[in-house]
This record gives sequence, structure tokens and C-alpha cells, in this order.
Amino acid sequence: MPEDHADDFQLVTRTGEDARAAYGIPLAVLAEVTHRCPLQCPYCSNPLAMEPASNELSTEDWLRVISELADLGVLQIHFSGGEPTARKDLGQMIARATDVGLYSNLITSAVMLSRDKLAALVDAGLCHVQISVQGAEAGLADRVGGYRGGHAKKIEAARWTRELDLPLTVNAVMHRQNLHQLPAIIDMAVEMGASRLEVANVQYYGWALKNRHALMPTPAQVEDCTAIVDAARVRLHGVMEIDYVIPDYYALRPKQCMGGWGRQFFNISPAGKVLPCHAAETITGLQFDTVRDRSLAWIWEHSEVLNAYRGTAWMPEPCRGCEWKEVDFGGCRCQAFALTGSAGNTDPACAKSPLHDRIFALAETEATEERNRFIYRNLSGGTEEAGPA
Ligand code: FES
Repeated sequence: MPEDHADDFQLVTRTGEDARAAYGIPLAVLAEVTHRCPLQCPYCSNPLAMEPASNELSTEDWLRVISELADLGVLQIHFSGGEPTARKDLGQMIARATDVGLYSNLITSAVMLSRDKLAALVDAGLCHVQISVQGAEAGLADRVGGYRGGHAKKIEAARWTRELDLPLTVNAVMHRQNLHQLPAIIDMAVEMGASRLEVANVQYYGWALKNRHALMPTPAQVEDCTAIVDAARVRLHGVMEIDYVIPDYYALRPKQCMGGWGRQFFNISPAGKVLPCHAAETITGLQFDTVRDRSLAWIWEHSEVLNAYRGTAWMPEPCRGCEWKEVDFGGCRCQAFALTGSAGNTDPACAKSPLHDRIFALAETEATEERNRFIYRNLSGGTEEAGPA
């Protein structure tokens, strides 16, 4: 790492440990154990080219990697996908995480769970469950996920989670076609016994870009959404925390994506590639290191990809001279790539980007065109929804 980056990574340091201290120690890891998933969400965040089951890491690989995570100083592992419960060895992975002292979270659509299956994961030491929802009622929710019966299954799995005494987060992915249900989704999350609700507006890279026309909310919807979240936060203080993410296209300041590139977090793909975020494979030309070839400690320190946008020295103007550069760390590289063709450009979500007004106008136009048909995500390369526009 160049010397002038050295001061940029002072998150967590453990004196006396090796050179990793200079980079900070990653706090959390997203383990995408498979890309297989029965749902077909139009905003799927997995890369456009999904990993086939035949190229997934083996059980032994994952168990070794989980032990390496603990050695590296990681505190939390989030098992995700695809649908992580599609892996029959998920219980073994959770048990290893428990053995080495990692806090484990299951990020799931819940549609493949049974009570017995969840109880077995709890016995293995699972600490937390996060269930995604697509709406407040089955008609819309099942249409968005492209999976009939999914909504009812999620409600049931939330009940099992609470009966088994695990904390629950509900992740509600919001967009133009379900924002009108937000008040009901908030009530539903309280009824489900969630201690935390993520109201996460869709971000547009990967598959979501293909459906931007069908998902982009209007500015008025985003304003209403903000007011509803603000009021609910006051009303539900002490009952349920609410995290809120607005669509970048309507933001004035970019989000601190992933807490900064290569700074607190990394992602391991089903094939073992180490990525700075779940969407990094949408950036063409990056060569990712893999846990099949290298130790995690080596990758965290030396990976060309992780070092590419670490800290602030890579930044162009206006980021380089901006007083916010160590707050937002330049926003989202995947978004910069999706909208400008270069991951090293200023994130157009920032009002200081010369492209900011253009993307705001584009969002406004797409939101009012009323093209509502989804292109579903599936292994056959995507299917356009039937029916009227
Ligand atoms: Fe990749 Fe934001 S999602 S940097």
C-alpha cells in the first residue's frame, strides 16, 4: 500500500499484530455460499453471470475459510446468497463459525426453511436471522419475487425465528411498485417481532439496472417514504429500529458504500472470489483473488482490487478536495462504473458530480413512464413478465 494511504485505515487496530493493523481489521464478511435461489427478484444484487453449483466452494473450503476469518479478527459472518439454505452443509458452516467465535447471521428469503431446519441451525449456534420481504400482502409480494406462496412462508419463518428466541431483522426492498405499502410493511414487521427493519430502496446496478424502468420511484414517493420512516422511528422508539436507504439517484450526498472500499468489510463469492462489495463483479476488468489460491490474510493486505479504491489517494476532483472525502469515501464505485463507465469517477449520486442533475432527471422521467413489467431474474437468462405494460 502506498505510504500516503497509511493514515486512511485506522478503524480497528490491534497493536502487536502484523501488518494487517495498517489496513484496519475487517469487521464483517458476507459469505455468499451459493447463487442458487428459488426467487426471481427483479432487483437481484448477484452478478449478471451467476456461479453454477458445480463451481461453488466445497464444504472443506468454507470451513477453512471461516477459521481464517476468525484468525484475521473478523467479528461477524453473514451467510447469504442466492439462498444460503439451498446449501445442505449450511449447518456445518454455522457450527464452525460458532466454534471459532464468530457472530453468525442468516440472510434468507425463508422460502426453503422448515421449522426443523431452522431449529437445527439454531442448535449449530446461529445468532440472528434476516428475512427479506417484497410487500405487505401476498398478491404484490409474490408477484415481485416471482414465487407463489413465498410471502406466507416468510411470515411463518419469522414466527419460528421468534419462537426459537432469535433476534429478527426484516429487510424490505422498496421501489415504485411497493412504496404505497410501506406503512403496512412497517406494521407487519412489528407484528413479525422484528427488532430491526431495513427500509432499503433499490440501488441500480447489476440486474436492477435492467428493471430500472419498472422500479424507479417518483420524487414525491421518495419524499413520502422519508416522512413515513421519520414518523415511524419516533412512534416505534424502543420497539423496533429502522434503517433507511434512499435511492442514490435522488440523493444529494453519496452513501458511504460498504463503510468505504476495502475498509471494514468484504464479500466472498460462491466460487471463493474476495470482493469489496456484493456488486463488484459488475465492474469489468477487475481481477479478483480467490480463497482457492491465497490465504484471506494475504488477500486482505495485498489484493490489487481491494487496494484499488482504498482510502482517498485514488480520488479525482472534486472528491480529492472535498471536505466529506473521509466521511463517504467517495460513495459507490459500482454506481460510478454503471453510470459513467469508470469506477474511478466521482459517484454521480453526489451533487458535486457534473452528472448529478442528469441522473436525477433520468430517474424522474423513468419513474413517470409507467412501464411496470418486470424482467425476472432466473437461470434461463431472465423472463419478461406477462401482461399489460
Ligand atoms: Fe460496490 Fe457500492 S456496491 S462499491
